[in-house]
Amino acid sequence: MLLKRISWVFALLIAASVSLMAGPTKEAGKELFTANCASCHNKNMKDKLTGPALGGAQGRWGDDKALYSWIRNSQALIASGHPRAVELWNTWKPTLMNSFTGLKDDDIASILLYIDDVYTKGPGGDVIKDPKTDVDKKDSSSNMWMFGGLALLLALLAFALMRIIDHLGNVSRVAAGDAPIEKTWVTSLSSKGFIAFLVFSSVLIFGYKTVDNATKMGRTQNYEPDQPIKFSHKLHAGTNKIECQYCHDSARRSKHSSIPGTNTCMNCHSAVKKGSQYGTAELTKIYASIGFNPITDKYEAGYDNWSEAQVEELFKKWIGQEYMSSKSLTALDDAGKDQVANEWDGIVAALKNDSNGKIQGPIEWTRIHNLPDHAYFNHSQHVNIGQIACQKCHGPVETMDVVYQYSSLGMGWCISCHRETEVKFGNGFYKNYNAGYIKAHKKALGKSDTEAEKIVVEDIGGLECQKCHY
Ligand code: HEC
Ligand code: HEC
Ligand code: HEC
Ligand code: HEC
Ligand code: HEC
Ligand code: HEC
Repeated sequence: MLLKRISWVFALLIAASVSLMAGPTKEAGKELFTANCASCHNKNMKDKLTGPALGGAQGRWGDDKALYSWIRNSQALIASGHPRAVELWNTWKPTLMNSFTGLKDDDIASILLYIDDVYTKGPGGDVIKDPKTDVDKKDSSSNMWMFGGLALLLALLAFALMRIIDHLGNVSRVAAGDAPIEKTWVTSLSSKGFIAFLVFSSVLIFGYKTVDNATKMGRTQNYEPDQPIKFSHKLHAGTNKIECQYCHDSARRSKHSSIPGTNTCMNCHSAVKKGSQYGTAELTKIYASIGFNPITDKYEAGYDNWSEAQVEELFKKWIGQEYMSSKSLTALDDAGKDQVANEWDGIVAALKNDSNGKIQGPIEWTRIHNLPDHAYFNHSQHVNIGQIACQKCHGPVETMDVVYQYSSLGMGWCISCHRETEVKFGNGFYKNYNAGYIKAHKKALGKSDTEAEKIVVEDIGGLECQKCHY
């Protein structure tokens, strides 16, 4: 009995150590890098992207402690005046690196291992892909398989151990003159010990997964939801160089920088009716939301009251017609019928929402940025008066196919910018503002002349609680 207990403890120890054993590995590093860093740092570690090439970075820092704190919170290190951090910032500003306060030492060590591995050996057969393609999914599912395989192996091991112990027990029973206890596979498998083992290991594995997911849930930084239409900022603001404020025109004027209405899209898409990437699949959603008939180029009267069948007929006709003309067909073939049906399903899924139960009506984009109600943020104050570029807060949106939340939007983020950003006095808003008074005040407080000359948001009250909290 004692032996049996000991062997259980042993099996549990193996199980526990497998889950902790992880340590830094380049495989883990690859996954972390792809998920967190690849959007800005080139995967070949040799070329620049939004950020510098990371190959050899460890050597450039020398001091691992500083490098680790850089990766966790680069802005803090810049603010502390660390020479390498300041040098980097001077070369790369105004592009900021995200903070990764959640990364553990092992995680960072793994990433560095991976960086070094790729840098020294080259990415090998690895194709440099967009970080958000299926590479990620494959990696994490192969991980799940690994978990599963390990669990199975452990279960088999524990089971074998148990059989051996039972057998040894019987040997000693026989030696002592008792009758051996015959155990079948079934009784072994349903023994308390084995069930306890199963419960323990599943709790371990699922518990790990749950905690892992839960820690990611509260954070909305990097939040990147799927949108009803595959609208790409990279294509519009990047390739086609459409100004941010052409679409988000209220950023200049009001508290909110609203999402453009379908009318804005129609300025171009009444003419650009088929895309080179998705053909009719995505753009037709715009038309179906507002009742634009792409066949006649006219808006349908009374569209709001159309039945779903009427809407379906019109747009299936359009999609089918475009399919046939692209293939020079006079009737839909089987592939064409499938395509029409699929694209229509996509339109319904994107537009028909719970709030009105019909296709017609505004497109419901999923909101990405959202401050809590107790905080006050005003776009026009920052964009118009402060003259801050959208990218300073939202990152390189013009390179994003799908927008994600680039900054933390935490209070510390607001405050640290207010501490270091100078107020722009050269606009009409400050015509009657006496900056000299603030300068004199700062000098009186013992600041040097150069410091007093520099008026940052803090000096005009940008750290006062009630400015940001109702
Ligand atoms: C949003 C873009 C972005 C992301 C995401 C990002 N970085 Fe950076 N990184 C930068 C920029 C930009 C710099 C240059 C310094 C600056 O402007 O802050 C930089 C600099 C660095 C440096 C210094 C390089 C050197 O030569 O000393 C390291 C190391 C680094 N990043 C590691 C990472 C790691 C690890 C991750 C993922 C956990 C990551 N970065 C994610 C943008 C990013
Ligand atoms: C052609 C119109 C258009 C242009 C140009 C455009 N946007 Fe957008 N933007 C949209 C649409 C539509 C959405 C909502 C769908 C989405 O999130 O992708 C959006 C969403 C956003 C969001 C996320 C809003 C949220 O839900 O929190 C940000 C931030 C943003 N845009 C910033 C920018 C910046 C910065 C630029 C310039 C580099 C820009 N946009 C250029 C149309 C545009
Ligand atoms: C200033 C002109 C302009 C505006 C405004 C505009 N687009 Fe575009 N859009 C384009 C151009 C140009 C393309 C590239 C067409 C191509 O693929 O050849 C495009 C492509 C697209 C595509 C990809 C189509 C495909 O199949 O490749 C989608 C989806 C799209 N736009 C949605 C929108 C939405 C939604 C809005 C409104 C929020 C909008 N666009 C506003 C010019 C514009
Ligand atoms: C000083 C930082 C900062 C700058 C500069 C900035 N934004 Fe924002 N943006 C934010 C914050 C913070 C939010 C979240 C606001 C909220 O939830 O009330 C936000 C939200 C948004 C949204 C979502 C809708 C909304 O207003 O809540 C869009 C779209 C957007 N910004 C676009 C832009 C564009 C386009 C520019 C440049 C013209 C810009 N932003 C400049 C910080 C900034
Ligand atoms: C990139 C730098 C930057 C960030 C990030 C930033 N701000 Fe500001 N903020 C400014 C500047 C610059 C001004 C001064 C504008 C002016 O001249 O009135 C300002 C002014 C303000 C003011 C008016 C202050 C006053 O005394 O009139 C408020 C309120 C404010 N910001 C709130 C916020 C909030 C809330 C956040 C975070 C969600 C934030 N800001 C993030 C740069 C920033
Ligand atoms: C420049 C703008 C700004 C100023 C000034 C500011 N806050 Fe905040 N505060 C915020 C924002 C934005 C949030 C929401 C942050 C988040 O969701 O993490 C916040 C969140 C909070 C919270 C909620 C806890 C949390 O972290 O979410 C408290 C409490 C708070 N602030 C208190 C204060 C007090 C007290 C002061 C004055 C000493 C102050 N704030 C000054 C912008 C500001």
